[in-house]
Amino acid sequence: MIQVKIFYAHNDLRNFSYLIMDNHSGESWVIDPFDEEPIINYIKKEGIVLQGILNTHQHWDHIKGNEGLKSHCNCSVLNKSTSPIDLDATHQIQFIDTPGHTSDHQAFCWKKNHQMIGLFSGDTLFNGGVGNCKNGGNVETLYETTMKLKEYPDHVVLYPGHDYILKNLLFAKTCEPENKDIDEALKLVRESDTEQGLEWTLGQEKKINPFLRLDSQEIAEKVMDDKKPLERHLFIKLRSMRDVW
Ligand SMILES: [Fe+2]
Repeated sequence: MIQVKIFYAHNDLRNFSYLIMDNHSGESWVIDPFDEEPIINYIKKEGIVLQGILNTHQHWDHIKGNEGLKSHCNCSVLNKSTSPIDLDATHQIQFIDTPGHTSDHQAFCWKKNHQMIGLFSGDTLFNGGVGNCKNGGNVETLYETTMKLKEYPDHVVLYPGHDYILKNLLFAKTCEPENKDIDEALKLVRESDTEQGLEWTLGQEKKINPFLRLDSQEIAEKVMDDKKPLERHLFIKLRSMRDVW
C-alpha cells in the first residue's frame, strides 16, 4: 500500500514536507524536505529506504533538508524527469511543469492505474489560495498554471507546500461573503489540527478557493465592481489584494 506521511515545520512559514512510501517494499521518496531530523528519525524507526528527494522549486524553505538527507540516507535529488517514478506496480509519480510562483516550479502528480489521485502542488496551489509571485514569479503565468490545475478531477487530493488555510479562508470570505461553503470550511478548520494536513480534494477547493472561482459574480462585483471582468484580470487583482491582506 502507498501511504503519505506529512511532516509539519513549526515555524512562521508553516511548511509541509511529504514522505510518499510503499509499505510493502519500504521504499520512499521525500518531497520538499524542510527539517531533515524528524524525517530521518521516522525513516530509521520504520525501517524505510529513502530512494531520493523531489523538490517543487528552489526556494530555501523547500530544499533546506536536502543536504542532511543526502548525507544521512545516501540518496540524491531528482530534479527533472520526463518518465514517471514507479512507486509500486500500480502507483506512479509524474512530474508536471507548474510555473508562476517561480519560473521553474514543478508539481508531482500521484497516479494509480494511470488515474490521478493526488497532487503535490508546492507553492502553486494552496488550500484556499495560490502562491505569491514576489520571489521570481509571474502572475500571468501563475494564472495559466492555476487554470490547468483546475481541470484536474474533483477527487484528486491536494498536498500543498504550506498550511495557509485559515488566513486564505478569511481572505476568501472578504471576497465572497455569501459563500456558505467558506463558512463551513472555516468552522471545520477552526476545529481541526491543520498541522496534520487536511487532505482536501480539488472538488472541495473549487467551492472555497477564490482563485478557482473566477466565474463567481459575487467575487467579480466585490473585487472589481464589474459583473463580467476577464477571469485573467480578476485573478491578477485577487493576487495583488492577497499580497497586502
Ligand atoms: Fe516558494
